[in-house]
Amino acid sequence: MKENKLEKIINLAERRGFVFKSYEVYGGLRGFYDFGHLGVILKNNIKNLWLKDILSMQNIYLIETPIIGPRILYEASGHIENFYDRLVECKSCHNRFREDHLLKGEYGEIKIKDNKALCPLCGGELTEARNFNLMFKTFVGPVEELSTESYLRPETAQGIFINFKNILNSMRAKLPFGIAQIGKSFRNEITPKNFIFRIREFEQMEIEFFVRPEEADKYFEFWVEKRFNWYINFLGIKKENLIKHIQTEEELAHYAKAAVDVYYKFPFGEDEIEGIANRTDYDLKRHMEYSKEDLTYFDEKTKNKIIPYVIEPSAGVERIFFAILCDSYDEDEMPNEKGKLEKRIVLRFKPWLAPIQVAIFPLLSNRENLVKKAKEVYELLKNDFRVYYDESGSIGRRYRRQDEIGTPYCITIDFQTLEDNTVTVRDRDTGNQERINLEEINDYLKDKFKL
Ligand code: GAP
Repeated sequence: MKENKLEKIINLAERRGFVFKSYEVYGGLRGFYDFGHLGVILKNNIKNLWLKDILSMQNIYLIETPIIGPRILYEASGHIENFYDRLVECKSCHNRFREDHLLKGEYGEIKIKDNKALCPLCGGELTEARNFNLMFKTFVGPVEELSTESYLRPETAQGIFINFKNILNSMRAKLPFGIAQIGKSFRNEITPKNFIFRIREFEQMEIEFFVRPEEADKYFEFWVEKRFNWYINFLGIKKENLIKHIQTEEELAHYAKAAVDVYYKFPFGEDEIEGIANRTDYDLKRHMEYSKEDLTYFDEKTKNKIIPYVIEPSAGVERIFFAILCDSYDEDEMPNEKGKLEKRIVLRFKPWLAPIQVAIFPLLSNRENLVKKAKEVYELLKNDFRVYYDESGSIGRRYRRQDEIGTPYCITIDFQTLEDNTVTVRDRDTGNQERINLEEINDYLKDKFKL
């Protein structure tokens, strides 16, 4: 299973409507993906679990800022000057590569001639590497000139920094406190790849946590632990598939003093799903310099004005989504209705994370009394759980369809239900069935979906 696990997951995600390639009817656009019904629900579940965790801290405030920002914002943040990858182009086939990825052999085996790397695709000569800025440029309004030049944000963070004073004053915030934002970011990646891992439009969940400079190291450690454990406790990702990667000097972004990444062991290799960085006072200082606004904090303790340091946990929703799919994908065998073992695909999502939590089936679709009762059960549960009613095909097929999309429980309404008001609840992972009275079903399920 290992060799083609990646293709199997991608295939399942597309077939069952989690993810589709964008603009496919027009041949597609590399680095862009659409999310289907189940995908949107899963994404929202991820974001809600992130919010649930951080909002329980009481000192994190939310914000939502525009996707497009003026040139001066990104001059101040340093992105115009520093946010680039090194690009090389093949002089023969004109394919373009990220130099660091090329040298790591990610486009294929590197061929060397006269101490110079050659094109991994055609063996042609490569150009010298040049800087390629990853930001998408546009103009706001009808006039295209430097003063209207704007950029799609490459991170949600800058909208947060420039709102530091607004949140500080309106929320009467005291250090340490955080400002958090979920939203789209855009990067014109040279080579998008690995399905939804490296894409050009993606969602970030970012916190800028403002602290006293002398407490930055302490809070850096705090956030590394907190965020690492979130993947295990809130998403149910297996601990052995997660790694803490300490960034080397060369890996650090232009604004960071230290950073630890959370890596997931994807089928294509281990790679980053979140980064936790110590951004120091870099951003607030730069925005003070460029905007001439006072972004200092008056410290009641010392009666001094200070510029807080920032600890930033920054996670990508699509990468987490992908990690969850990889972590929960499984194949096993289950007895069918005749007791014969059959292969099945199953997504073992944690119950609270599953897009559909409970599927409800009448045993037979042509028995009016069973259908009527099943619809009553649907009505009974629809406000408390994400439920799905299905009456088509054999019960065995209906189970398999739900297994594939990770539905943890299936309820079947059969003839006994009509007599004693009990239903069978079938567990996705074990296939075991329990008979539960409908008067208790709500509490029974609530208990199963507890985080
Ligand atoms: N504000 C800090 C920042 O943006 P980053 O490490 O460049 O840091 C943070 O990005 C997270 O955003 C990454 O860990 C990843 O999950 C996600 N991300 C970055 N680039 C991405 C891309 N091209 N495709 C999908 N997700 C991406």
